[in-house]
Amino acid sequence: MAVGIFDSGLGGLTVLDAVATRLPDVPLVYYGDSANAPYGVRTPDDIYDLTTRATQRLFDAGCDLVILACNTASAAALRRMQEGWVPEGKRVLGVFVPLIEALTERQWGDNSPPREVNAKHVALFATPATVSSRAFQRELAFRAIGVDVEAQACGGVVDAIEDGDMILAEALVRSHVDALKRKMPDPDAAVLGCTHYPLMEKEFQAALGPDVKVFSQANLVAESLADYLIRRPEMIGPGTESAFLTSGDPGRVSSRATQFLRRQITFDAA
Ligand code: DGL
Repeated sequence: MAVGIFDSGLGGLTVLDAVATRLPDVPLVYYGDSANAPYGVRTPDDIYDLTTRATQRLFDAGCDLVILACNTASAAALRRMQEGWVPEGKRVLGVFVPLIEALTERQWGDNSPPREVNAKHVALFATPATVSSRAFQRELAFRAIGVDVEAQACGGVVDAIEDGDMILAEALVRSHVDALKRKMPDPDAAVLGCTHYPLMEKEFQAALGPDVKVFSQANLVAESLADYLIRRPEMIGPGTESAFLTSGDPGRVSSRATQFLRRQITFDAA
């Protein structure tokens, strides 16, 4: 029994960590496509090709269920994958829906009609590809009415995190928050719509100020996955071993991952 977790690089480890804490008995196979990160500046076709290739690798590793712990892939590729690519008996889920269910005060899987919610002015921080897909606004419109969303494409942040340059990442976070605030001076909620950004959550919160509620995906995705597996226990696949796979340099990726999660993580070549 294993569940696959995919990201373009290291950001999905924030989701993996939360899932491993919430579901300690479920083996998890992580695939980070660090050789091809960042995805956020790629075309939708390119993101689709890379995401399907990585997802297939996770199916081959014994996972029947794969979580795209990458907003960019969830925004640019997931719907197309679900409509025409995912094989019979397999499932691929994204990370937008749990986040939006939390933002709109819903139970997991509640598909009732859209309604008014507390958050009225929402700042979305995400990669350029996620912002231009407008997938967040589309999913939100299914669940809430009267919410004003201002999106900020945070160029450079994922590259800086992948390179381990946290000083640059912090400076970029500040400048992206400033740019957002020029468009929306008083957001009441902010969504970190990229799984790399929880690694900079304190910096986002500090730049936004204490009155802005920051929504970050890792724990929300873990809770929603736990609920899903209670409803669909057969989706825990046949794999029995946890693993960390990368398309990048395993030594370099392992050392960054160990630094981020503050525990030893050893990646193997995918
Ligand atoms: N962690 C990915 C996301 O959630 C980063 C995408 C990228 O590689 O640019 O969007």
